[in-house]
Amino acid sequence: MSELIDPFGRKIEYLRLSVTDRCDLRCNYCMPVGFSDYEVPENWLSFEEVERVIKAFARLGVSSIRVTGGEPLLRKNLPDLISRLSQISGVDDISLSTNGTQLTKYSKDLKQAGLNRINVSLDSLDPNEFSEICGKNVLDKVLLGLDSAKQAGFSPIKINAVYSQKTPLSSAESLIEYAMRNQFTVRFIEVMPVGDTGRNVGISNLQSLKKYCESKYGLVETLERGPGPARYLVSPTSGFKVGFITPMSQHFCETCNRVRLSVEGTIYLCLGQNDKFELRPLLRAGISDDELLEAIKLAITMKPERHLFNEQPDKIIRIMARTGG
Ligand SMILES: C[S@@+](CC[C@H](N)C(=O)[O-])C[C@H]1O[C@@H](n2cnc3c(N)ncnc32)[C@H](O)[C@@H]1O
Ligand code: SF4
Repeated sequence: MSELIDPFGRKIEYLRLSVTDRCDLRCNYCMPVGFSDYEVPENWLSFEEVERVIKAFARLGVSSIRVTGGEPLLRKNLPDLISRLSQISGVDDISLSTNGTQLTKYSKDLKQAGLNRINVSLDSLDPNEFSEICGKNVLDKVLLGLDSAKQAGFSPIKINAVYSQKTPLSSAESLIEYAMRNQFTVRFIEVMPVGDTGRNVGISNLQSLKKYCESKYGLVETLERGPGPARYLVSPTSGFKVGFITPMSQHFCETCNRVRLSVEGTIYLCLGQNDKFELRPLLRAGISDDELLEAIKLAITMKPERHLFNEQPDKIIRIMARTGG
């Protein structure tokens, strides 16, 4: 039972933990080409510091941790961190968001370390489109990474595809059919105006794709909701699911159960607001465990009611890779 209740009565049970702000790709809605304004390594929370903070969150009732970045598999010895997190009492779900480029190297170790679930970002199965969006010609590597995750026994594996104004319908269809063949779940995400990159790509709306999927694939609405914000359509015969993450056209702030912790130890209370709480200075000044619990409780009192992406699209200057998407 979470002790973390924000001013709007929402229970905070889910933490997105960014382990690096670096990335080997440059997705056009996320990292600007040539971006190198990274956090200096002295400011990265060490694995010991991360473990301590997650223990504190877990004592306060946070049970799901999603490891993200930047590209989390670029952080050295990530399976070691996963293994530490998986032994924390109260943490019962550890998942990873990755671009998949390093997965063939790590799938087995991650499974052994206790990782429960994997989401892989994959926007297109067309090699040219993929390189145009993500800045590198590595589609094959990502597909092999997905195979390796399947072989390592991860299930369900979710594919996250950013759906932009420019995404051809045929591209979405290819992803859905690839997911069906492989027993993956695919989820489409509306572009958010996070950083100039998000704004430049242009926000998108998934409502017509959702309607199209209902008629083309015979999918029906389900009320089933996971720990995240996706709404799903499901096939009544096979159970195959397509998810829609719609922060722009149908926001889900009233059910928000999460906060984010960045690589340098800043708690971000909302992806679409600037409210934040700096934990690193306190950790490095020798704060006690009880004081750490109080600091986290205080941070949660700063959680805003909702994002203002539609009303104030210029508000968020930091890019997604910085906050921990
Ligand atoms: C920032 S990435 C970090 C983890 C990993 N590198 C990956 O790509 O999965 C997490 C998710 O944020 C999404 N994302 C990044 N910028 C976005 C934006 N402006 N709008 C919507 N989603 C975005 C990515 O597509 C990805 O699914
Ligand atoms: S979305 Fe993920 S893979 Fe793409 S640039 Fe951002 S952090 Fe890197």
